[in-house]
Amino acid sequence: MEGRGALSEIEEAVVPTGHAPELEREIERVLITEREIQDKLRELGEQITRDYRGRELLLVGVLKGAFVLMADLSRYIHLPVETDFMAVASYGAATKTSGVVRILKDLDHDVEGQDILLVEDIVDSGLTLNYLLKNLRGRRPASLEVCALLKKTGIQRVHLDVRYVGFEIPPEFVVGYGLDFAEKFRNLPYIATLRPEAYGDV
Ligand code: PRP
Repeated sequence: MEGRGALSEIEEAVVPTGHAPELEREIERVLITEREIQDKLRELGEQITRDYRGRELLLVGVLKGAFVLMADLSRYIHLPVETDFMAVASYGAATKTSGVVRILKDLDHDVEGQDILLVEDIVDSGLTLNYLLKNLRGRRPASLEVCALLKKTGIQRVHLDVRYVGFEIPPEFVVGYGLDFAEKFRNLPYIATLRPEAYGDV
């Protein structure tokens, strides 16, 4: 227990990685382990490699959340992909989606005629993705598909066709693997829920 602060044995069994003890003290439950994420990404990477062979694929990561996913997923795709990023932010409280999206950083290049795969960490209400898909469709790419690591079950406010989905999860607030609360937890290698107290003191 030395060096692990206030973690009890039971808590340590729930959050066993020791990745960042100060952060992990705030974790309630690991929903998807690092191993499960990497196995799934390898599988998705193989599928994407098959689907896009012989084409010119542009991966577009949606910042900030997708930076971890982009780094891992792109290395499981065995094709000469190009990468670009968009940075978006939704207005509103930290754990709620307001539906209004601001583009903070746009793509660096014209994407007309390119095969785009939009890479998102999570589809929650779906409003961010809906906005981005409409925006990118207007730039006349050859094709436009989505890869999302997580999709919350049954709470999308718009119909979305997400071709590659890593995991369907219950509609709980989650952190880790790029997802934050108050800009923290993005560097945890797994997906977890936070203890209720964490919302007050992080
Ligand atoms: C998160 C996430 C998605 C979006 C999903 O981004 O990365 O982009 O919310 O929510 P929605 O389906 O309800 O629209 P956030 O606005 O928290 O920004 P961040 O990625 O910079 O943390």
